[in-house]
Amino acid sequence: MMQSLNLHWWQCGAVYQIYPRSFKDTTGNGVGDLQGVIEKLDYLYALGIDALWLSPFYPSPMADFGYDVADYCDVDSLFGDLATFDRLVKGAHDRGLKIIIDWVPNHTSDQHPWFVESRSRRDNPKRDWYIWRDPAPDGGLPNNWGSFFGGPAWTYDALTGQYYLHQFCKEQPELNWRNPEVKAAMFDTLRFWMERGVDGFRMDVIGLIIKDKDLRDNPPNPDAPPDLPANDLFGRLLQVYNMDQDDVHPVIREIRGVLDEYDDRCGIGELWGPLDRWVKYYGEDGDELHLPFNFRLMDGMAWDAGQMRAVVDSMEAALPDFAWPNYVLGNHDRTRLATRFGGEAQARVAAMLLLTLRGAPTIYYGEEIGMADVPIPPEKIQDPQGVNLGPERTRDVCRTPMQWDAGPNAGFSPPGVETWLPLAADYATRNVAALTADPKSILTLYRRLLGLRRTRPTLCSGAYRAVDVAHDDVYVYYRAVFGERYLIALNFAAEPRALAIPNETAGRILLSTHLDREEAVSLDALTLRANEGVIIAL
Ligand code: GLC
Repeated sequence: MMQSLNLHWWQCGAVYQIYPRSFKDTTGNGVGDLQGVIEKLDYLYALGIDALWLSPFYPSPMADFGYDVADYCDVDSLFGDLATFDRLVKGAHDRGLKIIIDWVPNHTSDQHPWFVESRSRRDNPKRDWYIWRDPAPDGGLPNNWGSFFGGPAWTYDALTGQYYLHQFCKEQPELNWRNPEVKAAMFDTLRFWMERGVDGFRMDVIGLIIKDKDLRDNPPNPDAPPDLPANDLFGRLLQVYNMDQDDVHPVIREIRGVLDEYDDRCGIGELWGPLDRWVKYYGEDGDELHLPFNFRLMDGMAWDAGQMRAVVDSMEAALPDFAWPNYVLGNHDRTRLATRFGGEAQARVAAMLLLTLRGAPTIYYGEEIGMADVPIPPEKIQDPQGVNLGPERTRDVCRTPMQWDAGPNAGFSPPGVETWLPLAADYATRNVAALTADPKSILTLYRRLLGLRRTRPTLCSGAYRAVDVAHDDVYVYYRAVFGERYLIALNFAAEPRALAIPNETAGRILLSTHLDREEAVSLDALTLRANEGVIIAL
């Protein structure tokens, strides 16, 4: 009999990220909305995910497409209203799906009433809610920090003769988390949503909320690529004093304390620092974030079995016992995995990897149909990063409308509407309706993988151990707990590979990324086809 560990929902549940602007437009304005998510809940349930993460839907001037929040406790009319949100929570919970929302604590919109007050006068009670500094003695910038989106991280406000800090758009002034009133106000926003039934938060750039007390200059980055755009000041510096400060950790423990006022809520953080800095966000004994997002299989990764294995092995080794792993292969800021890794053949193997590693996987909308980056004509670029740093840096490419069917606008918007970003050229064939009907499609593969994780929880929670094999372009690992054992073998090569698995003789293939074999195999002579991954029960 299979036993199971007693796990929290966020440990084994697969999270599905929805970028609300791009999921489903029910109002005919070319932009997705919350009602659209409600209409697709049955789809998400059938897919087999466990939780939805919604990128921001708050009232916002949309300078950074919702990551510039003008009110933390409401819904932008573009997306619906609080009543729509409540129906979404109910619809999700009725289907056993959890709801995670984005929480953007580092900065607000410059239109947020807090900032409007703060900038009005130097002696306004909210002045210190943001980070204001005098010009340097020579009249210049207060320090050398750059914005992620190009240019300096400071904007001068002539009204009061000081600069304010913003490491993203100038419309995203940064809150001063050293001010207790800011903390209290932001903690209340968490409570507001937990009262409405929200199960977890994805915390935007959480490692940035506390900066060096003295805002010291960052040192130059000796490895900065020589071809950086002239205005990429950020890329020319090492991020030493603006993120991952030691004194961010007590604040994260306080945030965790607020989550712990409610039952079984989950805190996920957006963090990208090196392993030693990243692992600290779990806390000293698990008292900080449940899941610091792990982008290590995404950022800078080539399609290379050895490199992937090295990353997983080092992360598994770095995690203390109380820390639960998680993996992300794509999101709204990065090249889509199908584009990064080569195409659908690689995307299938990547899906098997993501959904059979130990811990919690996050799927970005459209990955399940193998969506690739969509080229955006320069005049249609909307993302501030692309506008400021050049077309090759635009994130619009991975934010295009979800492809539901072969009809007009891919079933995303009603016919005749111009969608906010262009549709992929291949939507007539690469869409949910067509791939649902195809028993060998990548969508069917995702459903099968998610189904297997449910029925065989060892694939989520069992111990992980990589196996050395003769070919370094094949990544093989065990997942095992309570005597139940699986072997996952992923061929990264575009040619067949024959393997002998040490100390094993036979097993049974439960699933192939090609979806065409479930059969007994001998493990002293296992042949994998080009770009084939298999899950083998031992
Ligand atoms: C995070 C978000 C990104 C946003 C930035 C500023 O990195 O994922 O989309 O632009 O924070 O909020």
